[in-house]
Amino acid sequence: MSKKQNFKWKIGAPLPGIEAHTERKLEVIEQYLDVYFDTVTANRRMETLRITIVDGFCGGGLYQKGRETRYGSPFALLNAVEKAKIRVNAERRKPLEIVAHFYFSDANSLHMAALRDELSKSKFSEQLDESIILQTGEFENLLPKVIADIKRRQRQGRSFFVLDQWGYVDVPVNCLQQIFSSLDKPEAILTFSIDALLNYLRTDGSGLEGLRQFGISEEFVSTWQSLKDDEQFGRATAQRTIMENLRRNSGAHFFTPFMMYSKTDKRWMLLAHLSKHQAARDKMLSVHWDKQNHFRHIGKGSLFELGFDHRLIESKDSLFSFREDDEITLLGELENELPTRVMDNMTEDILAVEQLLSQIGNLTAAQNDMIFKVLQKLASEGEIEVEKKAGGRKKASTKIEVSDILVRPSQRMLFTNFS
Ligand SMILES: C[S@@+](CC[C@H](N)C(=O)[O-])C[C@H]1O[C@@H](n2cnc3c(N)ncnc32)[C@H](O)[C@@H]1O
Repeated sequence: MSKKQNFKWKIGAPLPGIEAHTERKLEVIEQYLDVYFDTVTANRRMETLRITIVDGFCGGGLYQKGRETRYGSPFALLNAVEKAKIRVNAERRKPLEIVAHFYFSDANSLHMAALRDELSKSKFSEQLDESIILQTGEFENLLPKVIADIKRRQRQGRSFFVLDQWGYVDVPVNCLQQIFSSLDKPEAILTFSIDALLNYLRTDGSGLEGLRQFGISEEFVSTWQSLKDDEQFGRATAQRTIMENLRRNSGAHFFTPFMMYSKTDKRWMLLAHLSKHQAARDKMLSVHWDKQNHFRHIGKGSLFELGFDHRLIESKDSLFSFREDDEITLLGELENELPTRVMDNMTEDILAVEQLLSQIGNLTAAQNDMIFKVLQKLASEGEIEVEKKAGGRKKASTKIEVSDILVRPSQRMLFTNFS
């Protein structure tokens, strides 16, 4: 069955079946939102959290799995906010109000009618057309007004976009640019069918105009066509090039790409998290590590480059998963790779941990805690020194924090071990 048939909704017709990768994707979004709300409401003095949640490719709201009904993204998002309202208030003396607006839209009017029908029968019916705004239309056309509404209502522009397109052309890069250049605190989860694009280019290099925004040039097409028989290498290289272009052109500073496999389409799909803050990216990674889920990170987990990475030629990296043995390998690799990275990025022999995290944030599957563990080990071995923000040397046995400063040791042992 083609992917599109799996996403067809019409009032009165049977619900579409849910595919395994759609379930996984929804699980990740739900779990991420739990972590997200816990993090952004950590300040006990906060009284109100205003947020807008945009689902630009929302579909009809429900799926069938055997005899059970499963929620699609709009219900998953509504439920995540309901749960957060209860959870974050559980231990507060002063209640925190979460004021959320939802924009759900889809280009297909039958899908929107089906969603309206389901919402009107649900516990969310009173919010319909109040805090839940339903619109039929192409995401690209609706976006400017949605952004204007967010800016009018919320000073900080806190927002969460779910951009679950079918293929790869319905979220043009300029939409991502608009989101990340006009709002202060946006995050987005984007699906992008990289393999569908590559398969198209395998036989047909025409019609490049709309694809240049993803870094697809004549040169890219001819390189990909010459590499394509080396499935692993060709694909990994081409995928990374596209991801690097998406990252660079989106204006989001942090771009965390993960691959998930669609059995129906027999293709790898990209699920990317885009944010302006390293901390948000760290939280997204925590979901992948926690779930050890069916997502894969392209290439090795320690430090890698998006775009073409010559190390791929030797390693022909397999896809990295989030299991315990992967963590051990990753920590070992980071011990080898971090010292050089730290030293190279120092200015006047110092580097703030926060700055290091920003610099390598896009280039590793390691969570901050894993990076801290490695830095602490390097400190205990005398390869770096660590100072507290307020001044004073930190004991090697003390946990590293984001606010710490890394200092080049007076006796540089660093390269003796690794050269
Ligand atoms: C993968 S499905 C979405 C599934 C949904 N997010 C969920 O989790 O249940 C993609 C949806 O995008 C819609 N769509 C296709 N092109 C679009 C466009 N340019 N703008 C907005 N929606 C579009 C389709 O009608 C379809 O419902």
